[in-house]
Amino acid sequence: MKKILLMSVSMLTALVISGAVMASPEEDRAIFQKYFKERFPAVPTEEFANGVYSIDPVGRENWEAIEEFPPYETFIDAGQEMWEKPFANGKTYKDCFPDGPAIAGKYPHWDKKKGSVITLPMALNACLKANGEKPLKYKKGPINNILSYIAYESRGQVTNVVIPKDDPRAMEAYEMGKKFYFTKRGQLNFSCANCHLQNAGMRLRTEILSPALGHTTHFPVYRSKWGTVGSLHRRFTGCNKQVRAKPFKAHGEEYRNLEYFLTYQSNGLELNGPGARK
Ligand code: HEC
Repeated sequence: MKKILLMSVSMLTALVISGAVMASPEEDRAIFQKYFKERFPAVPTEEFANGVYSIDPVGRENWEAIEEFPPYETFIDAGQEMWEKPFANGKTYKDCFPDGPAIAGKYPHWDKKKGSVITLPMALNACLKANGEKPLKYKKGPINNILSYIAYESRGQVTNVVIPKDDPRAMEAYEMGKKFYFTKRGQLNFSCANCHLQNAGMRLRTEILSPALGHTTHFPVYRSKWGTVGSLHRRFTGCNKQVRAKPFKAHGEEYRNLEYFLTYQSNGLELNGPGARK
């Protein structure tokens, strides 16, 4: 008992980050933020939107140099063309999204009629289908162009995931996402939390593990390793494979709910996509 009290994080925090106790979404968020504040006291909360570069000064220098000629720029331009190009029926994305392309801050959200979390890529594909167009592939290819453009236009919006109180299924989706986050899986038997909460800041082979806080603010991301821009669900897939677990379907129920839970933890942080990562 004494040992636990002496830990730098409070006992409640320790229990929640190990997934051992339930807390409300707002308690989860407060605990996530407090945990990282205690763990990295020199890092202001809003800095976590910069991922691993918030805690890795050496990597940060390289990253700042890369950001001077952003590798995702051509993808933004290609995405703008997609946004503006009329469909076969003469309509455009704008007919589905009358507020224009700065819409990233509205996703993911709970859709009561569909009884599901709706992610931005799903909304884009719903627009295509409604206009008689073929939906885009989720993980690779042109969807990442339009996502880059939307992310860029949405810079400065604030993460604000809402869990509506009038539909208990929304809370269930959040809880399922949370459970996913804390479930150990794969041959290595690691949960997302094992790496990005408990071991954030530690080195795994050549990489430093980024804090979970801020994980969703900057997607899609140009990764040197991919040689292109990729989505959040592609990253989920990679992280599942890393522990030799079978990945789930992009925008299937598991990853949708995971995105809902994970994005909620970054409520209050600014959107700053697209990002660039090693
Ligand atoms: C074995 C450790 C490990 C596990 C388990 C793991 N990841 Fe990762 N993850 C990494 C590494 C390494 C990176 C690349 C460096 C970094 O940004 O952390 C990464 C990167 C990420 C990123 C991108 C961060 C950024 O700034 O672009 C996200 C998001 C992410 N992981 C989410 C998850 C989720 C969700 C899970 C659970 C499904 C998970 N990870 C499980 C090791 C892990």
